[in-house]
Amino acid sequence: MLFFNYGVSSKIYKALFGLFGLFLLSAPPVTAAGDPPPLKAGIVSGAEECGSCHKDVLAKWKDSMHAQAVTDPIFQAAYMQAFLDSDGRAKQICLECHAPVTTINGDTGLKEGVTREGITCHFCHSITAAHPNGKKRFDVKVGATVAGPRGNDKTPYHASVKSEMHRGAELCAACHEYEANGIKIMATWSEWKNSPQATKGTVCQQCHMPLENTTNQKGERISVFSHSLAGGHSIVQLRKGVVVNISNVERFSDRTVVDLEIENSGAGHSLPTGIPTRKLVLYVQVMGADNRSQKKSVVYEKIIFDKKGRELTRDSDIMQGLGAVIVKDNRIASGEKRKEQVIFYGATPSEVSVTAWIDYVYQPALLQNTEMRVEMTRTERSFGR
Ligand code: HEC
Ligand code: HEC
Ligand code: HEC
Ligand code: HEC
Ligand code: HEC
Repeated sequence: MLFFNYGVSSKIYKALFGLFGLFLLSAPPVTAAGDPPPLKAGIVSGAEECGSCHKDVLAKWKDSMHAQAVTDPIFQAAYMQAFLDSDGRAKQICLECHAPVTTINGDTGLKEGVTREGITCHFCHSITAAHPNGKKRFDVKVGATVAGPRGNDKTPYHASVKSEMHRGAELCAACHEYEANGIKIMATWSEWKNSPQATKGTVCQQCHMPLENTTNQKGERISVFSHSLAGGHSIVQLRKGVVVNISNVERFSDRTVVDLEIENSGAGHSLPTGIPTRKLVLYVQVMGADNRSQKKSVVYEKIIFDKKGRELTRDSDIMQGLGAVIVKDNRIASGEKRKEQVIFYGATPSEVSVTAWIDYVYQPALLQNTEMRVEMTRTERSFGR
């Protein structure tokens, strides 16, 4: 999986987190020496302990945004901003999803290694019920029994119980659905519930945790569910989402009219989904034989205003729930084929080539300007008179 370097300097977040003496990068890793100690009731074990047997799963998970839900510099910067703006109240809001171990150990100062592991193994495999947007987002029973897809694995380290929830979207809904003041800030789960993918019975796991072949401790070939949970941080996953086609180009003496169709063919939710600062941008370019070109764009996004009518652009404001109204949401729903018409004015040369492509853009409003941009799809056609 490919990650982007956001270019946020470590100086910035050292400065931010240094303020609170919280931090992060200097902490020693959780290590396992020999056989891991048995699981104890009420204590969340670290990922490295699980990984002493589940090596491949551990390696994939480490690559995932779940493992970086606390240490991710973009989150850290936004969290600190929210923390400052809210006199610390952000602790109660943000950590339930980004550092859910705090709901068990109360470590909201993020001092313990296991808390900083974000969405860690033992936590996720101890969830017994999910309550999207509930007062408490999940019920968790941490102990020597892990919840898994099969439930028939007896090991010296842990027993296991079959959990249908771990095979379905409800598990993900606990954190991938977020409403405040009646504003749907993130609605990945409800977008999915209303999608043709849900009707077909395709759950999040089928697209985000596909089975992969690997070998187990005895060297036998087995397949396990991928824990890298590729999403917007994965170029491969991004390119599965959307296609753009130029359906028609009509040329008049004073203008060129381009009809396009954008299809959300590969995602089980809107594109983009999740945190509202992510956008999709369609670019259309018309180039004449003389190499003169014109370019236009259409942005697909969700825009939220606060109660004073100002657009919220910072993740820290949006995720704190300062929004009062959604003023725009033209994102492309799962399975939708969106038609667009783009008109270029001016005399057209005898031959033109039309190119259309879609970029995925995430521009967190941080201390320094950073942008993540990936081209998702491109198409090109030439037209003569
Ligand atoms: C001493 C080795 C060992 C350790 C440590 C260990 N496991 Fe396992 N676990 C196994 C074995 C063996 C299986 C059986 C399947 C397999 O071979 O992968 C298993 C199966 C599982 C399953 C599938 C359960 C099912 O029946 O659906 C889950 C989930 C799981 N482990 C989670 C964890 C978590 C979370 C941790 C850390 C808290 C952990 N394991 C630590 C050995 C271990
Ligand atoms: C305990 C909360 C929690 C649960 C449960 C959870 N997630 Fe997440 N997930 C998060 C958080 C928080 C992030 C973002 C981390 C970051 O970027 O700082 C995330 C990130 C992701 C991403 C990566 C997005 C990107 O931008 O690349 C994907 C994909 C994802 N989750 C899918 C799932 C799926 C599928 C499930 C259910 C099997 C699930 N998650 C369950 C909290 C959770
Ligand atoms: C976001 C929650 C989440 C986290 C975090 C997580 N898992 Fe899982 N895990 C799942 C789900 C969901 C499945 C079942 C997927 C399915 O059935 O489609 C699963 C399956 C498994 C299995 C059974 C795999 C198989 O194919 O037999 C093991 C073993 C396991 N996880 C271990 C781990 C370990 C070890 C970690 C940490 C390194 C971890 N998990 C982190 C959600 C999670
Ligand atoms: C039919 C396959 C499919 C299903 C079902 C599906 N997704 Fe996705 N998901 C994708 C693709 C493809 C992308 C990449 C496109 C993108 O990021 O905009 C993606 C992206 C994401 C992202 C990253 C968002 C971003 O813009 O960075 C998250 C988070 C996510 N999915 C969570 C979920 C959750 C939670 C569910 C279940 C409620 C789910 N997905 C169901 C295919 C799927
Ligand atoms: C309901 C659970 C939930 C709450 C509450 C929550 N987040 Fe998140 N956050 C997520 C999920 C899930 C994602 C990943 C979604 C996606 O990729 O679309 C995410 C992503 C982010 C990202 C983008 C990270 C990146 O690198 O792409 C930032 C920044 C962020 N959250 C900040 C915050 C702050 C600050 C708070 C508290 C004010 C907060 N979040 C509260 C679940 C939550």
